[in-house]
Amino acid sequence: MLQGKRILLIVAGGIAAFKALELIRRLRERGAAVRCILTEAGTRFVTPLSLQALSEDRVYTDMFSLTDESEMGHIQLSRDADLLVVVPATANILARMAGGLADDLAATVLLATDKPVLAAPAMNVRMWTHAATVANVETLKKRGVTFIGPNDGAMACNEHGPGRMSEPAEIAAAIESMLAANRPLAGKRALVTSGPTREAIDPVRYISNHSSGKQGHAIAAALARLGAEVTLVSGPVAVADPPEVRVVRVDSADQMLAACLAAGRVDVAVCAAAVADWKVTRTAGAKIKKKAGALPPALELAANPDILATLSKPGAKRPALVVGFAAETEDLVANAIAKRGRKGCDWIVANDVSPAIGTFGGERNTVHLVSAAGVENWPTLTKDEVAGRLAARMALHLAGPRSAEAAE
Ligand code: PMT
Repeated sequence: MLQGKRILLIVAGGIAAFKALELIRRLRERGAAVRCILTEAGTRFVTPLSLQALSEDRVYTDMFSLTDESEMGHIQLSRDADLLVVVPATANILARMAGGLADDLAATVLLATDKPVLAAPAMNVRMWTHAATVANVETLKKRGVTFIGPNDGAMACNEHGPGRMSEPAEIAAAIESMLAANRPLAGKRALVTSGPTREAIDPVRYISNHSSGKQGHAIAAALARLGAEVTLVSGPVAVADPPEVRVVRVDSADQMLAACLAAGRVDVAVCAAAVADWKVTRTAGAKIKKKAGALPPALELAANPDILATLSKPGAKRPALVVGFAAETEDLVANAIAKRGRKGCDWIVANDVSPAIGTFGGERNTVHLVSAAGVENWPTLTKDEVAGRLAARMALHLAGPRSAEAAE
C-alpha cells in the first residue's frame, strides 16, 4: 500500500518513543522507505542503533554534524520525503513547531519542509489539556498539520485520560490515507516512451541518437508517484528503472510500437522517446566487411512507424490524453504547433535540442507546453521538475474540465 513512499520519522523524547520501532516495522512491511531523525531527548528512550536496524537507513541526530550535513543537508532530508511523521509529538516539540523554532535538527526540518506533516501526540493528560498545548495544536492545525490521537487510557504516569499515543497500526493507517489523498491518478493507467531507438545496420552497428532517457523516465516516475499504473517502454538507456513502474525494454522503433500496443488500453500516453525516424531497409545478417579499395556501403532507409501518431488516432481505444514531445533546433514553438496538428496529439511539449543547450542527456530542460488553449512557456527546470509539473497538469486535466480550465 505504501510501495515507493518515503517517510521521514521524527522521533522525539517521550515514553511512547518505543512505539516508533513497531511503526517502522509496519511501514516497511507496506513497502515504504523510512528514514529517522532522533531528537536529543529521544535518545533517552530509544537508541539510534535500534532505529537504524529497523529502518535499514542512517539515523540523523545532530544538526551540526559535518558528515551528515555534507552527505545529506537538512533541507534535503525533507525534500526526499513524501510525508513527515512526528512520533511521539510531545508537548515540547509541538510548542517548538508552533513557535517556529529551529533549535535542533528535527525542529529545523519541520520548519523548512513543504511536505505534509502528521503528528501523533503523547503526553501527560494535564499537559495535553493545558491552554498552551491546546493553542499550539490549534495553530498547527490551521497551518495544515494533521493530528492522529491521542487516545484515552491509562498512562505511564499513572493517570488516566487523553494523552496515550495512537497505536502503530492506527498511525500506519493514517499515513496510508494521507498518502492516498495525494494520489489523484490512482486507478489510471499510463504509457510512457523514453530513450532512443536503435536501428540495426548489421549485428554490430546501428543508427541512433543521444537521448539518455532522463526526461522520459522522470515522467514515468512522476506519474507513478501520483498513483498511476505506469508502463514505461524504453529504448536502450543507462538510467535506472523508476520505482513502481513496469518497464519494457526495446531496441528498435518497430519493437517500441509493438510494446506500446501490447500495453493495452491506457488513460494517458506520453511519448518522450527520441524515436529514429528511419530504419535501414535491409539489415545485414552478418557484420558488413570492409573491403580494400571498395566504396563504403550505401544504406537505404525507410520510414519508421510513427508511434505518437498511431496512439493519437481517433477511436474507442484512444487514450483520453496523448502528450508528445517536439525536439527542435529552430523555430521551436511554430514547429511544435504544426507538429501537434500533424500527429493528432492533445498536448505537445516543445524543447530546444540544439547541442549548445544540452537538452539531450542533460539534467535540465526548458519547455513550452502547446495545447488547444495556447502556448505556455515554462522556466528552465530540472527534468524531474518538468516531469512533476507535467504529471500534475495531466492529473488536473483528467480530473475534469473545471479543474483543467482553472489551471489553463
Ligand atoms: O532522453 P533525454 O536525454 O532526457 O532527452 C529528452 C528528449 C530531448 C529526448 C525529450 O525531451 C524529447 O524531446 N523527446 C522527443 C524526441 C523526438 O523524437 O522528437 P521529434 O520532434 O522527432 O518527435 C515528435 C514526437 O513524435 C515525439 O513525441 C516522439 O516521441 C514521437 N515520435 C517520433 C517519431 C516516431 N517514429 N515515432 C514517434 O512516436
